[in-house]
Amino acid sequence: MHIKIAKDYMEMSKVAADLVESILRKRPGLVLGLATGSTPLGLYKELVQRHKAGLDFSKVTTFNLDEYYGLSPDHPASYHYYMGEHLFEHINVDRARTHIPNGANADAVQECKNYEAKIKAAGGIDLQILGIGNNGHIGFNEPGAPFGGTAGLVDLAEETIEANARFFERQEDVPRQALSMGIKSIMQCAQIVLLANGANKADAIAKAVEGPVTEALPASVLQLHPNCTFIIDEAAAQKLTGV
Ligand code: PGA
Repeated sequence: MHIKIAKDYMEMSKVAADLVESILRKRPGLVLGLATGSTPLGLYKELVQRHKAGLDFSKVTTFNLDEYYGLSPDHPASYHYYMGEHLFEHINVDRARTHIPNGANADAVQECKNYEAKIKAAGGIDLQILGIGNNGHIGFNEPGAPFGGTAGLVDLAEETIEANARFFERQEDVPRQALSMGIKSIMQCAQIVLLANGANKADAIAKAVEGPVTEALPASVLQLHPNCTFIIDEAAAQKLTGV
């Protein structure tokens, strides 16, 4: 696991965009795994600017980590909506090659099976972007999620519902379930970049990097990944002792 500490959120976003750009220039048909939430917004802004300056996404395939279960793709709080608004509408990606689990599919099991099959058919994910929850979740794999898990329907932890309430009018509107790639699906990605900023992530980052590898702290599994980089700001790094 490599740790890169950036001065602040803007620098974190730029360092991440530099990495995505350099990989994309070498591999125009990149299979890119994407995350949502507040953390990657700066990265997406950077990528949009770089696209305006000529960076080509026309051959890229994307897979998002997760989607709220029960929200239709046009719901403003859905991750479909988020991806369109913050990235896809502003770059030249072929929308037919963008994939996000369909939270409106009544058959969640089939939806997740199909999703895993599509990742496989694309040859696997070359580069996966991750955020991290305050409780150490990656994707919507909450504490206790099995390391052997593939995509599935999962229950959101209470702290995740509270953290994500800011995207909804009322806390009771936050879906209680989601479709998420599993830990095993994430670990199969060839390269992983985890982004984190802010003091509220410092505990989760310290445990993920320096704590025991345990299902109680899902991101700790990344210690076992052969090509994983954490790009974090100073505030999120403040509880690390070994750097
Ligand atoms: P955030 O969410 O980027 O909105 O903090 C991260 C996550 O829950 O994975």
